[in-house]
Amino acid sequence: PPSLDTVARAKGMRFGSAVAWRPRNSEAYEVALPLDAALLDRECGILVPENEMKWVALRPSPTRFSFVRFDAMLAYAEANGIAMRGHTLLWHQPKWMPRWANEYDFGANPRAEGERLLVEHVRTVCERYGARVGAYDVVNETVNPADGGLYDTALSRAIGGTEATVDLAFRTARAAAPHAQLVYNDYMSWEPGNERHRAGVLRLLEGFRRRGTPVDALGVQSHLITQGSDGPGALQLQRDWRAFLDAVVAMEYKLVITELDVRDNNLPADIAVRDRAVADYTRAYLDVMFSYPQLRDVLVWGMSDRYSWIEGFEPRPDGAPRRPTVYDAQFRPKPMRAAIADAF
Ligand code: XIL
Repeated sequence: PPSLDTVARAKGMRFGSAVAWRPRNSEAYEVALPLDAALLDRECGILVPENEMKWVALRPSPTRFSFVRFDAMLAYAEANGIAMRGHTLLWHQPKWMPRWANEYDFGANPRAEGERLLVEHVRTVCERYGARVGAYDVVNETVNPADGGLYDTALSRAIGGTEATVDLAFRTARAAAPHAQLVYNDYMSWEPGNERHRAGVLRLLEGFRRRGTPVDALGVQSHLITQGSDGPGALQLQRDWRAFLDAVVAMEYKLVITELDVRDNNLPADIAVRDRAVADYTRAYLDVMFSYPQLRDVLVWGMSDRYSWIEGFEPRPDGAPRRPTVYDAQFRPKPMRAAIADAF
């Protein structure tokens, strides 16, 4: 069958995936290969680094950058004619920052030093890659899902507030990479329990527009979770989710699906049943998403169950292997692949 990217392109869209690398956590990236290179080459028109552009990967110390891993990924993509998006220039929750950044001494003038650190980081990355990276998740997950407020961190406190911090990241990115699509990326989705998260993201997006912060698109991560039959009706979920997306596009934001995968919660162990439910859930979700012409790029967070982050992040309670992606652990296509192809 034609590749998912070929099917997407026929509709003026693109299909892609996060790329992970072997050996993990090694600096010998020049000689390494993507974990599932054959699938990426075959199916994808665009890639995004799963971890290699995060501060934890790029910043071994306050004074050093380490580009070897992402350089290798980008060279691989370019050699195969695949586009690249960047993820992420600022994910400032302590859990996702290098230890040195969380313990950083901002000195006598914390604001100036915080701004210097952030601007240097964003500018250095954007200027290094220029037009080779077509879009950036400039800021990742700065809304606290518990209350819809913004995360306060060592860096944002030094700079004097999270709004000022994320605005500075976007302004710096725009100046240093004027061609790139600038994205705010987050995981609010249509499942219940996301109401405060969605409201907080809308407030953040409104604030960007009010302050003239250069943000082009909302990245909708799309780490989906299947609902059991006892959950709220699909129609109710879709209504709430559409109301959210309507509000986003009314503010003239584009949409990007940045990290699609599906956790098969509330399902029996039978693999055929789970795969069918995941495919149907994906299809219903994409039908809603594709009704918005503001959506052009669709990226999954990994092509094969073999390497999916979900296995470590949230194992199934019954211990059965997770099946959150398009191909199984033996690289055989699953019903989710056909669901995506049909949805385009
Ligand atoms: C995840 C990676 O997949 C893992 O390998 C890593 O340990 C943690 O980060 N939302 C995001 C991504 O924006 O950066 C996360 O990626 C998954 C959730």
